[in-house]
Amino acid sequence: MVRGAVLLLLWLAGAEMLREEQVERSGFCSWKCMKFVQMWPASFCVALGPRFDCVVPESADSWTIHGLWPSSVMNCCSCWHLFPSDLMDLPKQLAQHWPTFLNASNFKFWKEEWQKHGTCAGCMEALSSPSKYFGAALDLRTTYNIDRAFQRAGILPSCNHSYQLQTLREALVPILGKEHQLQCVTDGQARQILVQLKVSLFSNFSAGCLEEEARDFSPYRPCENQRRIFYFPPNQKNPRDPCP
Ligand SMILES: *[C@@H]1O[C@H](CO)[C@@H](O)[C@H](O)[C@H]1NC(C)=O
Ligand SMILES: *[C@@H]1O[C@H](CO)[C@@H](O)[C@H](O)[C@H]1NC(C)=O
Ligand SMILES: *[C@@H]1O[C@H](CO)[C@@H](O)[C@H](O)[C@H]1NC(C)=O
Repeated sequence: MVRGAVLLLLWLAGAEMLREEQVERSGFCSWKCMKFVQMWPASFCVALGPRFDCVVPESADSWTIHGLWPSSVMNCCSCWHLFPSDLMDLPKQLAQHWPTFLNASNFKFWKEEWQKHGTCAGCMEALSSPSKYFGAALDLRTTYNIDRAFQRAGILPSCNHSYQLQTLREALVPILGKEHQLQCVTDGQARQILVQLKVSLFSNFSAGCLEEEARDFSPYRPCENQRRIFYFPPNQKNPRDPCP
């Protein structure tokens, strides 16, 4: 009986420690790598469910930012709210390079990204405020410039030409390194379509951080080697089916 109670107490203490450890682990500074995620606006709405409105602005004719995500941590601090004034002079650039395509306010998108991921980034001095975090993502877009890498390799958006995964990767390796992932969706005509690109960074923003792939709940999947890949041009009038 007494032994049972002692065991129970030990077990409770252990559970408490475990819980603290988990809080610590889900907190600020446990992450080693972060994902810088860019998306191709022309393909964003192809996999979008019917209950969402889709609007791709005319200006979105280059790769845009989806987010900057410290790995294996999320929602680190619900008390750190984002206000428009926190972004200082960035909103114009953010609207151009980090827009939402959900017919909602851009600020709502930025706020969600901040809440989910930005609040976990702050243990790095270079990311320790909203303006630093969003500013860093804008800088990363310039460093890891997918538009330029593809243009240099002659890879252009097209409805009727598709590419080998190998060709796309070879164009990207010089700027992104090998640790990147191209993500695709399959459209109604069973075409594999490039939609997103993740590059894995160290906390000093260098590419090449190695980590285990976390579970991915998005409809995007790693592009398959065996099938050709379409890189569709933007079609504002028909963003859900850019190349009918
Ligand atoms: C976007 O939202 C506005 C207002 O809520 C609505 O009137 C409009 O039809 C929506 N656009 C699309 C393409 O769904
Ligand atoms: C291929 O698609 C592009 C648009 O992406 C179009 O301008 C061009 O005419 C098409 N070429 C052929 C041969 O259909
Ligand atoms: C960034 O950090 C990684 C891992 O610590 C290191 O290998 C790399 O040399 C650093 N890059 C720069 C530019 O300092």
